[in-house]
Amino acid sequence: MKSSQRYAVLGHPIAHSRSPAIHSAFAAQTGIDLQYEALLVPPDGLAATLHRLRDEGFSGCNITLPFKTEALTLADSGSQRALLAGAANTLGWTTDGRLWADNTDGLGLRRDIETNAAWPLLDRRLLLLGAGGAAAGALGPLLEARPACVAVWNRSPARAAELVARHAELALRCGVRLLALERPEGRFDAVINATSAALQAGALDLPAGLLAPGGLALDMVYGAAAEPFLAWAAGQQAGQRRDGLGMLVEQAAEAFQRWHGLRPDTAAVLTQLRSGA
Ligand code: ATR
Repeated sequence: MKSSQRYAVLGHPIAHSRSPAIHSAFAAQTGIDLQYEALLVPPDGLAATLHRLRDEGFSGCNITLPFKTEALTLADSGSQRALLAGAANTLGWTTDGRLWADNTDGLGLRRDIETNAAWPLLDRRLLLLGAGGAAAGALGPLLEARPACVAVWNRSPARAAELVARHAELALRCGVRLLALERPEGRFDAVINATSAALQAGALDLPAGLLAPGGLALDMVYGAAAEPFLAWAAGQQAGQRRDGLGMLVEQAAEAFQRWHGLRPDTAAVLTQLRSGA
């Protein structure tokens, strides 16, 4: 009897992860026989865990905090997108045991905005808050959607400048004006929060007028952590306010497609997650 394919999400912490539920729902929909588990990896244990999973015959894994950067360095090959982001969230083993790495976070974000929210990014003015791993994963796919401009603001300006410099060539190729801001100022059609500010004490201190009335505000996190930013957006008369749950489901769908060659129905799974099922 053929055994089912094995997958896992690796992180620290990991107990909160929705990935097993999402991938199991995709598998049920598409009739693919797989097992998907959440594995707690010690802070210095990613390399050893990946070797063990390969030896146990796993087909692939997702990577979450704090291992996305290290995962890319451990892979035998990385997609252009992962190399530009400097991080990987999706890994897979080839039949001869080589490890490839991809990053589907930014594609997931783009799909959540353009498809789920039905909000085309083309020719829009975007502000990206943050320049850490989450922002780095998002920027390439945002540029590829050809907005008019992407401004990046970060608490530590040098990090924003570095992120912008790394993406300058892609921005040029896509015809997008890309710049780093010293302060969060100006007026944008969409403001995307990729900082982890709300996970620490105090929310971001954002000025009024940053988001054009009717614009889109999206926080990449979900649950209570998204509330301070989305409350600010409500005060700015945002037309759409989104947390990161849609992005989470869409990045999982991109990973699922890499592994299985099939695109699952994300809307049904997102509805299921939002209803707490
Ligand atoms: P992640 O992978 O979640 O992006 P990270 O790489 O540690 O995590 O990046 C966290 C981001 O949130 C950074 O942009 C960070 O700003 P700094 O580069 O200045 O550290 C931002 N951030 C965290 N706490 C913040 C706060 N209280 N106010 C503003 N930005 C904050």
